[in-house]
Amino acid sequence: MLVLGIETSCDETAVAVLRDGREILSNVISSQVEVHARYGGVVPEVASRQHMLAITPIYRAALAEAGVAPNDLDAIAVTAGPGLAGSLLVGVNYAKGIALGLGAPLYGMNHLEGHMYAGWLEDGPTPEEAIGFPMVCLLVSGGHTELVLMRGHGDYQLLGSTRDDAAGEAFDKAARVLGLGYPGGPAIQKTAELATRIEPLPRAWMRGTLEFSFSGLKTALLNKARDQNVAVGLDQGRPEGLDEAGEERRNALAAGFQEAVVDVLVTKAFEAVEQHSARGIIVGGGVSANASLRATIQAKSPVPVAIPRPVLCTDNGAMIATVAFYGIQRGLQPDMAVDANPRQGFQQG
Ligand code: KG4
Ligand code: ZN
Repeated sequence: MLVLGIETSCDETAVAVLRDGREILSNVISSQVEVHARYGGVVPEVASRQHMLAITPIYRAALAEAGVAPNDLDAIAVTAGPGLAGSLLVGVNYAKGIALGLGAPLYGMNHLEGHMYAGWLEDGPTPEEAIGFPMVCLLVSGGHTELVLMRGHGDYQLLGSTRDDAAGEAFDKAARVLGLGYPGGPAIQKTAELATRIEPLPRAWMRGTLEFSFSGLKTALLNKARDQNVAVGLDQGRPEGLDEAGEERRNALAAGFQEAVVDVLVTKAFEAVEQHSARGIIVGGGVSANASLRATIQAKSPVPVAIPRPVLCTDNGAMIATVAFYGIQRGLQPDMAVDANPRQGFQQG
């Protein structure tokens, strides 16, 4: 079975062709990073327009790379939400057009569920085979930070989420304060790797819950960066850049920030495992591309952990196709009236 997966919820225009739920025939991703970098973050109107420009060439490239004709496609899957309204609409309408033209069934999928299923795209045993249900999913992206108990395919319980910023959003804001550009996650990671010491920053543990909060950490970073004259992304702009000592202070702050986020994410994921007797952990979403998070959770976990390779952690079409495939196996019905749903949450069982 060939499923086309279309993802346009944020700033990546992505189309993939997937065979039988797990074999990636193509996974073409066009990132808008350079366009948004000029503004220091994603500008929704710009994102929609970029999706409109990119979607047809990316669709054609995905088919060409997969070596399939449109008529070979058995199903069309598209991200219906959550995400930016205008961006989602571009993907949803494009998918409708293709499905109508081909007479193929259309499936509107949940972006967060797509991130959870990215591990099913890897070669070798699936997370289900390697870990087994129930498993805890740590979902960390630009818009979401969630702990979900996955009890089976399509059977989820939301255990906790963030009360304020998402982990990726916190990375992006921290990078902006430190003048490291957009997107912030990879920039903070690179800067932290240069650090020779780690500046301690506070963690919000939200004791007794599986919730997160990153706004206090963000403020602590901002205050320290100002005190130490390295808030160069904000009010302390220095066109000539930082001197060597300043760079060292900035590196130490980036390292401290990353360590604080990773510490909380990993500790809370382990608490969730313990509380729900889960058999293992799957990690998904853009922040799971972070090298420190990957290394820390793998090294410390008392249970098996599955993290997809970084290109499958960030937004892509293959994850949307695979979640549709598993839905179809369970009898998910096609819906030509799929609507963009910017605030879509988890369908809890
Ligand atoms: O899942 P994703 O591609 O898009 C959303 O659904 O939001 O996640 C994007 C987020 C951004 O906030 C980005 O800074 C973060 O993932 N990210 C990272 C890394 N790569 C991407 N955060 C930390 N370390 C990374 N290496
Ligand atoms: Zn995402």
